[in-house]
Amino acid sequence: MTLVPLAGCAGQAPSALDPAGAGAQRVEGLWWLLFWISVVVFVEVMALLAWALIFRRGGRTRVRHSQPLRFVTIAGAGLPLVILVAVYGVSLRDLAALGTDPGRDAPTVEVTGHQWWWEVRYEGVAGATANEIHIPVGERVRVRLRTADVLHSFWVPQLMPKTDLIAGETRETWLHADRVGQYRGQCAEYCGLQHAHMALMVIAVPRPEFDARLARLAAPARAPSTDAERRGQQAFVQGTCAACHTVRGTGAQGRVGPDLSDVGSRWSIGAGAVPNDAGHLGGWIANPQTVKPGNQMPPQPVDAARLPDLIAYLRSLG
Ligand code: CUA
Repeated sequence: MTLVPLAGCAGQAPSALDPAGAGAQRVEGLWWLLFWISVVVFVEVMALLAWALIFRRGGRTRVRHSQPLRFVTIAGAGLPLVILVAVYGVSLRDLAALGTDPGRDAPTVEVTGHQWWWEVRYEGVAGATANEIHIPVGERVRVRLRTADVLHSFWVPQLMPKTDLIAGETRETWLHADRVGQYRGQCAEYCGLQHAHMALMVIAVPRPEFDARLARLAAPARAPSTDAERRGQQAFVQGTCAACHTVRGTGAQGRVGPDLSDVGSRWSIGAGAVPNDAGHLGGWIANPQTVKPGNQMPPQPVDAARLPDLIAYLRSLG
């Protein structure tokens, strides 16, 4: 039931001009500064152009020869130089502010980009999740970024500008949300066929909820409580699923695909490809290639009789 508002969120395009944290506020300030400078320059150029067209037809000149040269020097070179140097100075200041370390005590989340999903781990916590990052509201959280394959770019428009994920390198940024909420992020560097379906959700929650979240990530996944869930777990662990996926506390310890220990509570299936409900989950298990063509999960030879059990089991996780 909690998924309904989440699904609504998934459809909205987040805007860097609607900041919800210290990082994005910097970017917004810079954006408006550039916008208003552009407006002033545009209006001035258009006014001069109109003046030239209306009053100076026929090549009549009322100014002496030294004046046009001075005008071109000041308006064409001097003024742009002053504006560009000033903007450069302001952007350097913002860059420095965005690059500051969030502090030794800040929680650290380790994010690894894959084609086409985000692996999410927290420093000091054994478990992993995918495509969603919980952060405590009002606090800075360090984000350590790596890629398992090609270039990706981590972007949460309402919280922080882009940081590229570069093969062989570890990059760092931070997240800060000043109000509780969900902030959609997106891979912002073309990384192959399903680049558009490489979304994530940053979920800012009060500190106690964040601590509870980390505790759940460290614990085994929820045990099945119905017969269908038990059959589903058996099919999952003994079938092909376990070769690629982990469910904590079971025999499934695959590391190729996302850890599914809390898949039932995630905001989407396939990093924003489809909503997380029983129907889409069944469709995904039966043939992930029709839902998100090109992803690494091959179509599954699942016994039709087992599919509802598998769905029941996976829906129960989280
Ligand atoms: Cu990853 Cu685009």
